[in-house]
Amino acid sequence: MAACAERVAAVLPAAGSGARLGAGVPKAFVELAGVPVLVRAVDGLLDSGVVGHVVVVVPAEQAGAASAMLPGRPVSVVPGGADRTASVAAGLAALPPSVEVVLVHDAARPLTPPAVVERVVTAVRAGAPAVIPVLPVTDTIKQVDGDGTVVSTVDRSALRAVQTPQGFRAGDLRRAHAGAPDPRTDDAGLVEALGDPVTTVEGDPLAFKVTTPWDLRIAELLLAGAVERIG
Ligand code: CTP
Ligand code: MG
Repeated sequence: MAACAERVAAVLPAAGSGARLGAGVPKAFVELAGVPVLVRAVDGLLDSGVVGHVVVVVPAEQAGAASAMLPGRPVSVVPGGADRTASVAAGLAALPPSVEVVLVHDAARPLTPPAVVERVVTAVRAGAPAVIPVLPVTDTIKQVDGDGTVVSTVDRSALRAVQTPQGFRAGDLRRAHAGAPDPRTDDAGLVEALGDPVTTVEGDPLAFKVTTPWDLRIAELLLAGAVERIG
C-alpha cells in the first residue's frame, strides 16, 4: 500500500435490496463466478494500492455475514439506511477524522478496474474537490412526453454517463451530506447542489453497474472470458 493510502478511505454502499436483479438476496451478496459481488468490489478498491480502508455499508441483518466474507482486509462494516444517500451518510459517519480523501463506490460495480480508482484519487489529490469517472453517451438520446412520443433529440455530445468511485475531499463530502436537501442517486449531485465544481476523469466500460439479470450475465461472461484480472 502506498504511504498516502492511509489518508484515503472508501465508503462502499452495499445496503440495497437488489429488487431489479431479483436474486432473492441483496445484490452485494450474489456470487459472481464464485465470489460475492461485495468481495469483488472491496478487492478492486484495495488492489488499486491507493485506498487504505473501506467502510462497507450493508443491510443490518447482513453485517455478520459481510464481515465473515472479508477476513484480513482493512474494512469496517456498518448498517445502512433506507436509501443510498442515507447509507453513504452512515458510512461517512464511521470514517476516522484523519481521512483526507473519500471515495464513494457502488458495491454493484464489481468489475471496476483499479486504474479507475487511481485516476479518481490522483485528480482529488491534484486539487479537485469532487471527481467522477464518466463515459461518453453512445446511443442517440430522445426526450419523450408522457405518451412516449418524441419531443426532441438531445445533443449527446455534451452528455456523459456517470460511474463510481466518485472522489471527494473529505470535508467537502461531509458538508454536502450535512446539507443534503433530498436523496440523490450519486454523491456528486450533493456537491453540485452546494454549487461546488465537479470534475471528470475517464471511466471504463468494466465499471458498469450490475442492475438487472442481463448485467449479471454479462459480468459472468466477461470473467469466463478471462478478461485479465481486471486491472
Ligand atoms: N444502496 C445502499 N443502500 C440503499 C440503497 C442502495 O447502500 N438503501 C447501494 C446498493 O447496494 C448499490 C448502490 O447503492 O451498491 C447502487 O444502488 P442500486 O444499483 O440501485 O442497488 P439496489 O438498490 O440494491 O438495487 P434496486 O434499486 O434494483 O433494488
Ligand atoms: Mg436502488
